[in-house]
Amino acid sequence: MQTLEQLESGQLAGCRELRLSCGLTEFPRAIFELADTLELLDLSGNQLCALPPDFARLHRLRVLFASDNVFTELPAVLGQCPALSMIGFKANRIRHVPASALPVGLRWLILTDNQVESLPPGLGQCLSLQKLMLAGNRLQSLPEELAQCQLLELLRISANPLASLPEWLTQLPRLSWLAFAGTPLTQAQESLALASTPIAHMPWSQLQIGSVLGQGASGVIHSARHHPRTRVAAQPLPQAVAVKIFKGEVTSDGLPASEMAAAIQAGAHPHWIPALAKITGHPLQAQGLVMPLMDATLINLAGPPSLASCTRDVYAPNTCFDLVTVRRMALGIASAAAHLHAQGLMHGDLYAHNILHNGQGQVVLGDWGAASFLPRAKPALALALQRLEVRAYGCLLEELTARCQVEPHAQALLDDLVQLQSQCLHPDASSRPLFTDIENRLSQMR
Ligand SMILES: Nc1ncnc2c1ncn2[C@@H]1O[C@H](COP(=O)(O)OP(=O)(O)O)[C@@H](O)[C@H]1O
Ligand SMILES: [Mg+2]
Repeated sequence: MQTLEQLESGQLAGCRELRLSCGLTEFPRAIFELADTLELLDLSGNQLCALPPDFARLHRLRVLFASDNVFTELPAVLGQCPALSMIGFKANRIRHVPASALPVGLRWLILTDNQVESLPPGLGQCLSLQKLMLAGNRLQSLPEELAQCQLLELLRISANPLASLPEWLTQLPRLSWLAFAGTPLTQAQESLALASTPIAHMPWSQLQIGSVLGQGASGVIHSARHHPRTRVAAQPLPQAVAVKIFKGEVTSDGLPASEMAAAIQAGAHPHWIPALAKITGHPLQAQGLVMPLMDATLINLAGPPSLASCTRDVYAPNTCFDLVTVRRMALGIASAAAHLHAQGLMHGDLYAHNILHNGQGQVVLGDWGAASFLPRAKPALALALQRLEVRAYGCLLEELTARCQVEPHAQALLDDLVQLQSQCLHPDASSRPLFTDIENRLSQMR
């Protein structure tokens, strides 16, 4: 984070990235002094409601964040910025998104937690669009023209009053990560799961909270010990647990209540991090869930996508597996995904960064944050959504096989895995296998 004083005194001359959060009510014109170098501008956490009409003088700007401000409209001037490909206006008061605000090279648009009622048909002209984050708005429909965005890979439309998913959505050739929980499409199933699926209650007073294990969009995960005074579950809970405390507001993936419903519905599976109990009596009334604490030898398979990678996870350099390990990991994840689909859920965020592994092929999938109930009343749509998620799995397979050491005797296994991967990535979604088929095929591969 830099300061206004540094900017105004010229100390930041030549910088490529600028982050200012200091109660700004107006765009500081001194930023234009950086026009020949500035590529990333983060003005999140201010009181801005407008950008100057000559904003596009920032001709090298690729990334603009302006979350937590008070914009009521996506500024039209953004459409004139020649290099701008990533725009983030989370948690503003945006009602209006003019087509003119969308630069042609737009890859990543974040409008999470605003008041958008409709999107312009011109969004369909953003042919480079890969990632579109619209959770927590007032959308009742998506513009049909979005079907032209054939590179779209990730879409978040949770927590909107959307009554249906358009048919073209599941035909988008690259769409792989979709969240639509907390919409009229899913609400009845979410309420039913919350009301009728039994889950133990864990009083907060019985938990001794330890260190932070991780955190993402929706919550913070702590290790914890539990000191049972009363028996809270039919099965005794382990003493060492992990606890996810929800941040409580709408996130890029949706609402905490939807996440809670999905977690409860998901049940248990050997390759899935389940919810064991629901927290009660939190001093700030926060909601939370108790999970088994995963063994410390299990680590994240990758980090989340970066600004540069956009939709693809970032692996540690030199990550390398042997093929037998890859097959084992692939089988574990396919069986976890098959389990979720059988429970009537899609994961929505099937990514290496939501997988813990031990380097020897043991894997567990976690994170219910983006999970959505598959529409029970629409079996064809439910199947199409399962095949959409299979594409995410195809990306995972691609990442794993690209990081493989192949000994000569394992060539046949590699060929089988690569063939499976290309079927999972098939642009015609109806040609992709379902997870139960994938699981069967992987169990037969040697
Ligand atoms: N049960 C658990 N045991 C150990 N670590 C966990 C557990 N659950 C989550 N974590 C850690 O916390 C990180 C974030 O958890 P996740 O459920 O993905 O939250 P978010 O929805 O915020 O992304 C995980 O990637 C993992 O490193
Ligand atoms: Mg996560």
